[in-house]
Amino acid sequence: MNRQQESKSWSTQDLIPDYVKNQKLIQWVKDVAELCEPDRVYWCDGSQEEADRLNQQMVASGTLIPLNPAKRPNSFLARSDVSDVARVEDRTFICSQRKQDAGPTNNWAEPAEMKTTLTNLFRGSMRGRTMYVIPFSMGPLGSPIAHIGVEISDSPYVVVNMRIMTRMGRKVLDVLGDGEFVPCLHSVGAPLAPGQKDVAWPCNSEQKYIVHFPEERSIWSFGSGYGGNALLGKKCFALRIASVLGRDQGWLAEHMLILGVESPQGEKTYVAAAFPSACGKTNFAMLVPPAGFEGWKVTTIGDDIAWIKPGEDGRLYAINPEAGYFGVAPGTSPVSNPNAIATLKENIIFTNVALTPDGDVWWEGLTDAPPAKLIDWQGNDWTPDSGRKAAHPNARFTAPAYQCPSVDKNWDNPAGVPISALIFGGRRATTVPLVMQSFNWNFGVYTAATIGSEMTAAAAGNIGQVRRDPMAMLPFCGYHMGDYFNHWLEMGRKISNPPRIFCVNWFRKDENGKFMWPGFGDNMRVLKWIVDRIHGRAFGEESPLGWMPRYDDIEWKGMKNFTRQDFRRLMTIDREEWKSEILSHEELFEKLYDKLPREFMLMRELLLSSLWRSPVKWEMAQERYLEN
Ligand code: GTP
Ligand code: SPV
Ligand code: MN
Repeated sequence: MNRQQESKSWSTQDLIPDYVKNQKLIQWVKDVAELCEPDRVYWCDGSQEEADRLNQQMVASGTLIPLNPAKRPNSFLARSDVSDVARVEDRTFICSQRKQDAGPTNNWAEPAEMKTTLTNLFRGSMRGRTMYVIPFSMGPLGSPIAHIGVEISDSPYVVVNMRIMTRMGRKVLDVLGDGEFVPCLHSVGAPLAPGQKDVAWPCNSEQKYIVHFPEERSIWSFGSGYGGNALLGKKCFALRIASVLGRDQGWLAEHMLILGVESPQGEKTYVAAAFPSACGKTNFAMLVPPAGFEGWKVTTIGDDIAWIKPGEDGRLYAINPEAGYFGVAPGTSPVSNPNAIATLKENIIFTNVALTPDGDVWWEGLTDAPPAKLIDWQGNDWTPDSGRKAAHPNARFTAPAYQCPSVDKNWDNPAGVPISALIFGGRRATTVPLVMQSFNWNFGVYTAATIGSEMTAAAAGNIGQVRRDPMAMLPFCGYHMGDYFNHWLEMGRKISNPPRIFCVNWFRKDENGKFMWPGFGDNMRVLKWIVDRIHGRAFGEESPLGWMPRYDDIEWKGMKNFTRQDFRRLMTIDREEWKSEILSHEELFEKLYDKLPREFMLMRELLLSSLWRSPVKWEMAQERYLEN
């Protein structure tokens, strides 16, 4: 459909295919086309043919580099602009009608003012470009728990990524009919003047806005083409907007992986786990059990987002609303994550990884020794002694879920899977032991709400700095964090059979800065204790903070060079460190004071006093480790 000469108004005939019946959608597409003034409007059908065509187009324009088809069939490399490599949390806004509904952990602006700002930015922002209309479903198409969105974007890179990450295309409009959808408007914010040559990664290096209107359930994103900033079904819809839906409708939208554990006896247990960005969700979701765990199997439902709803039997059921993985490349190797490596064999979009001379990809950690020569993520020649990273630390792959060898047979079952445990983790070099189980739901919610983690390259910011990241949702909760905590407590009251809650830390370091726990496949040892606890088979010891496994409660078969002493060190709860830790919760609580659950203050007191007042028992437990 070609733009009619100088006229700024589009005819419906030109703009709307006759199979589109949704009046709200028709009006919105018209309004956006008028505002953004694209050269063309294109409705995505989601077909392979369409994806192939767009990929070829992007190869021609320099946005994509085709990889060697003998090594990596139908796969491409994209290199972003250096200013556009991660989520921008300081440019992310929750524009609720009232400031207090966004809460102190979100940026807020008055919605009408923000609309004016955005309308001015979007005016003419698609000049010289094609406007793509991308209908998508979060969750299995037509399932009662799925939600439909339509993204309008001027980025063909967004189109081909959305095709992998969601159920996308014309079939979604058939299901939508005249129903509700979440409008997601996206522009890279780089209009082209007549005759102006495009760049490989158009974006706006001056202005970026990732904006959510929770009451209206709409999303406007301007200026970035990268990841969660631009693939609006993911963080913007499936977490920020969906968390608001969950609050209103009695369910949870969480930054969680979902996995299944199968025992040699065929017992199946599903768990969900929340770790902050780039803290090991994809790795854990695709875990391969180590030597000593013959007959055990871990299966993958999702690696980033879980929608969790109470079932009629009083249990929580979870679905993965996504259809692909947008995973961190660096650190992914045949040793650390063989299932991810197998998933990546074809039909992949890589972003900001390095290119090998034979047209394949490389990133830090893929192999022990780096190749002698590479082209780095910025397109420059690279050798191991260049003193720079070859791949950006937040380089990513976009991969279809069904290509994962460990994908669970229920991965797109609309009914979801019953969740027996919720696991929360962070990246903590000190203080936090390998694993503990909270005494009950409320204590678990407290622990999850106060978890800290070192910041990673997934967001622009101070990498390494420890911050409180409640439920790994700090950048993703679409409303007041205090209300969110209350919603979690309320969920516990409503369900008769709540999952057990655990807290883990794979990242504790010794005095030489070395990880004390091997992690990755060996996390199975922790997972097995968790599963055994769920089924009432495993023992543990009561610590002031929760239940902890003793050395003999963990399966060590196949593990080399790990002593009782090592385990004791990894499990240590240092009283002074924990005093500061719990006192520091105050900082978060003060921010949320007007909406903080009353239970939290009481639990905090209880934790502090059990750390102080009844140390003897725990000290004895510690002593027993020493003796052994
Ligand atoms: P997002 O996609 O950003 O939400 O993150 P994610 O949680 O899925 O991150 P991912 O699994 O890709 O984490 C990647 C980083 O965690 C890499 O640096 C890995 O090396 C590291 N990692 C994962 N599991 C472990 C582990 O068990 N131990 C250690 N030390 N590092 C781990
Ligand atoms: C995260 O940062 O948690 C991600 C990547 O999963 S992005 O989609 O860019 O948000
Ligand atoms: Mn994530």
